[in-house]
Amino acid sequence: MKYRIAPLFCRPWTLNGMSPRLIESHYEHNYGAALNRLNSVTSELEALDVKTTSAQVISRLSREQTTLLNSTLLHELYFASLGGDGRSLPDTIAGALARDFGSVDRWRLEFIALAEALTGDAGWILLTWVPRDGRLMNHSASDHAESIAGGIPILALDMYEHAYHIEYAANTTAYIAAFMRNIHWDAVEARYTDAMTVSRPRSLDQPEFKDVPSITPEEVQEMLSSGQRVQIIDTRPRHYSTRAQDIVEGAVWRDPERMEEWMTTLSKDEPVVTFCVYGFHIGCQSAAALREAGFDARYMAGGHYAWKAIKGPVKLFE
Ligand SMILES: [Fe+2]
Repeated sequence: MKYRIAPLFCRPWTLNGMSPRLIESHYEHNYGAALNRLNSVTSELEALDVKTTSAQVISRLSREQTTLLNSTLLHELYFASLGGDGRSLPDTIAGALARDFGSVDRWRLEFIALAEALTGDAGWILLTWVPRDGRLMNHSASDHAESIAGGIPILALDMYEHAYHIEYAANTTAYIAAFMRNIHWDAVEARYTDAMTVSRPRSLDQPEFKDVPSITPEEVQEMLSSGQRVQIIDTRPRHYSTRAQDIVEGAVWRDPERMEEWMTTLSKDEPVVTFCVYGFHIGCQSAAALREAGFDARYMAGGHYAWKAIKGPVKLFE
């Protein structure tokens, strides 16, 4: 594959406090170099006989390719982050920053703090959309390859010396201020709108239990810590529970094979949470059967292990 050069997104003569000379040098000598090396490493990797080449050589080239690809992509984003007045935030992106950071000012201070903290080092400061959590995050990357998995960066500040030294020498504070007053917020908002169309990563799908409501382990913890009364039933199968060492604090174990017997001991006035080992069939089936019988029952997604994975309290299973 051959990677193609992207035209310069910003118009260098319009920038405030960043000269065309700085942008031209950056675009030609740093972005261009990354792209050319990316193509050269990619050709080298594609030409390898992977049956006879050592794993170390393949790994080294692959890592280099990742680094160069990210450098290429981030430089394109950097040039596409510039060209505005830095101040006029359209409503959508202003609202998103306020939602995820408290306020636009708080976002700005955090972003600048991350950049200031890189003074003397090199790296990238990124504003990234994370589809998994549906939120924007600021992110400081100490090299080209450090990124949030699945994240979509929409604003990039280049903190490598080549990005400012011609004009600002070691005065990174002045360079950061210049970057902030040239942010092209309309372009950032357009990228945010595009990023929002990316779906969250697919989660566990259990179509057979789609009508049975679930609850997360975190929500169960919140119910308990708020003092809400809840009946927590561990319905791990007997063959599993006989070798289990621990049980969720506050839960009682009940044999899922004998639901008819113990169901009558439960109250219909308090919610019921059931769970099994991993949150697949047994916990869901138990919740479904309890709902059928008129209980306000839900199954805990992820089961016993999800509870343990978030460090939920457990006790010895006796
Ligand atoms: Fe750069």
